[in-house]
Amino acid sequence: MSSLAGKRVLLVISGGIAAYKTLELIRRVRERGGEVRCVLTQGGAQFVTPLSLAALSEDKVYSDLFSLTDESEMGHIRLSRDADLVVVAPASADILAKMTHGRADDLATTALLATDKTVLVAPAMNLRMWDHPATQDNLATLKGRGVLSVGPNEGDMACGEYGFGRMAEPAEILAAIEEYFGAGAPLAGRRALVTSGPTFEAIDPVRFIGNRSSGRQGHAIAQALARLGARTTLVSGPTALPDPAGVETLRVESARDMLAACQAALPSDVAVCAAAVSDWRAKETHGQKMKKNGAAPPGLALTLNPDILAQISAAGNARPRLVVGFAAETEKVIEHAQAKLAKKGCDWILANDVSQGSGTFGGDNNTIHLIDSQGVESWPRMTKDEVAAKLAARIAETLAETPESTKP
Ligand code: C5P
Repeated sequence: MSSLAGKRVLLVISGGIAAYKTLELIRRVRERGGEVRCVLTQGGAQFVTPLSLAALSEDKVYSDLFSLTDESEMGHIRLSRDADLVVVAPASADILAKMTHGRADDLATTALLATDKTVLVAPAMNLRMWDHPATQDNLATLKGRGVLSVGPNEGDMACGEYGFGRMAEPAEILAAIEEYFGAGAPLAGRRALVTSGPTFEAIDPVRFIGNRSSGRQGHAIAQALARLGARTTLVSGPTALPDPAGVETLRVESARDMLAACQAALPSDVAVCAAAVSDWRAKETHGQKMKKNGAAPPGLALTLNPDILAQISAAGNARPRLVVGFAAETEKVIEHAQAKLAKKGCDWILANDVSQGSGTFGGDNNTIHLIDSQGVESWPRMTKDEVAAKLAARIAETLAETPESTKP
């Protein structure tokens, strides 16, 4: 039962009677091989003692933001960065509000603001506090930023009332932690690389060549691969989307930056190139904003960008076992995509029709034809999230069937 072997959980315990259940959670995470480091808020310390936490976690318990000893042993930034996942259990209405507004007035909230890791909250509070629009709005905001949540459940409350607000049981929080780490998941132990979004190619400091890619399909694929347990790196051009939870997201601007970030992320087991990479960039970029000066409009000489998909497909020893590209076509979709499969040297091409009226670009839906050397498989029209889930499942199946040394 070592599904969490080597995983480091930073556990923030805020004020609430449910804090006693957190002791059981520590025991269960450790039974599965995980390490737990505790941060106790002042409120939390009213319900559980640092001594119990230290005994169960077999580690020092951190609670003081301005402690000289704590800062010299383990500064609050390192505390939040050294973890693989931050869990807030119980998460009181107050700590959720503080997280929403970026308050940092104690060690727990400072660590939560400083962390670059996924945060999982297990809310616990009186049912009226839970029902209050302020709490609901706060949680919705946090979820929009990629915070995961488990519970609360319905039931009898310590205050004598009945309703929603009871913290999820330790087993449920443990299951959410295991799900995050993809323990036992089909892509556990695999590495995935995904490109997404457009690229912006500078002309001068204020102008660029770009395109209308929203990044929704690529981001959804990264999220779906991470959900199946893959350690996923998303290299994204400029988009308005939040970083998907549990995915290492690297933001880049130009095709050349995207290529460098991808090369640094190899080797991986699978690469999915869903970015709409600009084919060309300006041959020369201007250091200062180009002036009109009443003269004739300047010409714009272009040069070809590197083809990231083709380079990943030809990366020799660093080539992922499975390389997947997209082909956005407006006519002869399958024919053009088959030619692209050969030209790029990838294993699969997901072809989609982006002709006017298809609603694919910037829309919610996509119609995919999966093309490999064997033939064509057409998928029914579905949402981009469904495409992502189906693709991730297909990738998991294929990697499981293919020995390490061969290509599918
Ligand atoms: O050549 P075209 O843009 O139609 O090919 C689409 C596929 O190639 C997509 O998977 C896209 O992410 C990838 N591509 C790339 N680098 C480029 C151009 C396209 O990775 N410079």
